[in-house]
Amino acid sequence: MPLMPSSRSICLMFATASVIAAASLAPVAAQMPPNVKAGRQVAEKLCVGCHIVMPDPPNSTVSADIPAFQTIANRPGQTVDTVVGAILIPHPPMPNTNLSREEVNNVAAYIMSLKNRR
Ligand code: HEC
Repeated sequence: MPLMPSSRSICLMFATASVIAAASLAPVAAQMPPNVKAGRQVAEKLCVGCHIVMPDPPNSTVSADIPAFQTIANRPGQTVDTVVGAILIPHPPMPNTNLSREEVNNVAAYIMSLKNRR
């Protein structure tokens, strides 16, 4: 059996939680897609100190050693998931951001929205 029993039960828990969430939020939106705009707001608040978060005009006061979000987005094989991973596992000297999982998804979606933008 390829799946571990624990991941199956986590999956079940998640499905149950989604049903409950969908029921309580039904009129708003059952399953929110990542919100690129909200992600950009988080980035402009928490990430600008180190990263160039916008393609234009760039906030050019940051260290040249730190990859710009657009550079990150354009890395070969980069996906929302790999960006999420890079945010969830804090990168020194970046402090743990204490973002919610939803905020991380939004920021990752924002970063990937910069891909190949010229
Ligand atoms: C204190 C400075 C600092 C802050 C604030 C910061 N970062 Fe970073 N970040 C870095 C540095 C330095 C690296 C490069 C780390 C490395 O090379 O391992 C990096 C790398 C990354 C990477 C991986 C890039 C890659 O593919 O190599 C991602 C994704 C990222 N940051 C996202 C974010 C997001 C999103 C925020 C805001 C929530 C943020 N960072 C805030 C310093 C910072």
